[in-house]
Amino acid sequence: MGFLEEIKRRRTFGIISHPDAGKTTLTEKLLLFGGAIQEAGAVKSNKIKKSATSDFMEIERQRGISVATSVLAFVYKNKKINILDTPGHKDFAEDTFRTLTAVDSVIVVIDVAKGVEEQTEKLVEVCRMRKIPIIVFINKLDREGKDAFDLMDEVEQKLGLQVTPLSLPIGMGYDFKGIYNIWEKNIQLFQDENKQTIGRKQYFDRLDDPGLEAAIGTQRLKTLKEELELIAGVYPAFDRQAYLKGNLQPVLFGSALNNFGVQELLNCFIEIAPEPLPKDADDRRIEPTDKKFSGFVFKIHANMDPNHRDRLAFVKIVSGTFERNTPYHHVRLNKKLKFSSPNAFFAEKKQIVDVSYPGDIVGLHDTGNFKIGDTLTAGDEIQFKGIPSFSPEHFRYINNNDPMKAKQLSKGIDQLMDEGVAQLFTLHMNGRKIIGTVGALQFEVIQYRLLHEYGAQCSYENLNVHKACWVEARNDSEDFIEFKRIKQKFLAHDKSGKLVFLADSAFSLQMAQDKYKAITFHYTSEF
Ligand code: G4P
Repeated sequence: MGFLEEIKRRRTFGIISHPDAGKTTLTEKLLLFGGAIQEAGAVKSNKIKKSATSDFMEIERQRGISVATSVLAFVYKNKKINILDTPGHKDFAEDTFRTLTAVDSVIVVIDVAKGVEEQTEKLVEVCRMRKIPIIVFINKLDREGKDAFDLMDEVEQKLGLQVTPLSLPIGMGYDFKGIYNIWEKNIQLFQDENKQTIGRKQYFDRLDDPGLEAAIGTQRLKTLKEELELIAGVYPAFDRQAYLKGNLQPVLFGSALNNFGVQELLNCFIEIAPEPLPKDADDRRIEPTDKKFSGFVFKIHANMDPNHRDRLAFVKIVSGTFERNTPYHHVRLNKKLKFSSPNAFFAEKKQIVDVSYPGDIVGLHDTGNFKIGDTLTAGDEIQFKGIPSFSPEHFRYINNNDPMKAKQLSKGIDQLMDEGVAQLFTLHMNGRKIIGTVGALQFEVIQYRLLHEYGAQCSYENLNVHKACWVEARNDSEDFIEFKRIKQKFLAHDKSGKLVFLADSAFSLQMAQDKYKAITFHYTSEF
């Protein structure tokens, strides 16, 4: 197969949802239908249960699982499908945001009974801002839930999407009979009462098939016809270009647990979902078909074995081919690096591969060269954009508890920050170090990992910070000089040396914004 065909057959996407909506179950069923696994239960959930806040064994176990499930790849109908795993736990939301920089599209899973939940809103907002094509899968139709039309309204209103249904449920909960597939124009009904068997389904390709009326009853058939008329009148017809541009979102219904609507989702997905997309570097757009290799690091995973401090850096290939044992240019370090054992991912196994193509993810063994956002190329001096840091939600001073281990602590903090576990800010006034995280759980993870992997002991001290804002201003502007003088106590720099204002309250941030008009305050590090 040639280079262009290899690119064309790749589909790289992420599944996002509020915890418990069924992301893990759906992932597993996609692998099952893709023939990548033989039985359900093979993919472990990487959910961090709420009760596990202080259970470090659990965190370590999860880290192991999440390496295994970081990328799940399989081939279905000659398409190479790469599913990128996104943690559902809100404390790891930043991990998910970063993974979204490496996907070409997403599937959003929504629980039919719970509707649109908080975490879904946040994640979809990021996808919308980036214009990522979205398919919505409404799950758990085997349970009583909200009416399909009410739910589509809710999706439109809360998520700001423009939807068009590509399937419609027939009945719901105990009465769930099957799916009308608008995309393929056929009807699929459960044949077995227990609704669990793959393959044993009844198919109809016409609404006026007498067998259909016999199977679902006259009244239900009438309702179905009315609903289809309503859809034709109310929702825009599916338009692939609009979907690819992020302006139209198809909705499908099903039950991942019962294998219902999953294969239909997969069939529809491989037809409509985008091939690997171009990505913006500083001053130009890099096309996947560009022959010269380029890629970027979107995730770094520390090894499970504390004695070997090597890590796995996950690189999304943007253009060209990535080849084993070939020297590539690490742009930030201006250094040539060669990889003898790049890992590719197949279902839940890792394998060493010789060649990978745009859309693929390779896992590179790293001894501390990479940090999130790094660009790797065949020689070009480019830096990919769009992997910003967001303002953390929680801030604490970090103190060294063992003066003999200052070096270890500093190295440990550096490496954990490169992995993107949290962000480090250094106060201008006194050089004190502040850790900022998205969730409270990370503080415990950091403390535990510093001790177990670096032999360093730290403690935290509370600090009142509302938001970290990256400051943009002309050096010689009067506002900026005045701001630096007055707000000295609240100024810090991040790991890359950028100036950050640690506002202690929403009010003081507002005051600063009103007073210093020549300064722009950004909530992300990339502007
Ligand atoms: P997540 O990754 O999005 O957090 O969700 P996950 O797939 O783990 O699913 C959460 C729970 O919802 C699981 O039940 C799962 O079995 C159930 N579930 C998923 N899809 C469906 C569906 O289509 N119908 C129904 N009725 N349930 C579904 P659990 O009891 O929390 O876990 P488990 O003990 O079954 O693993």
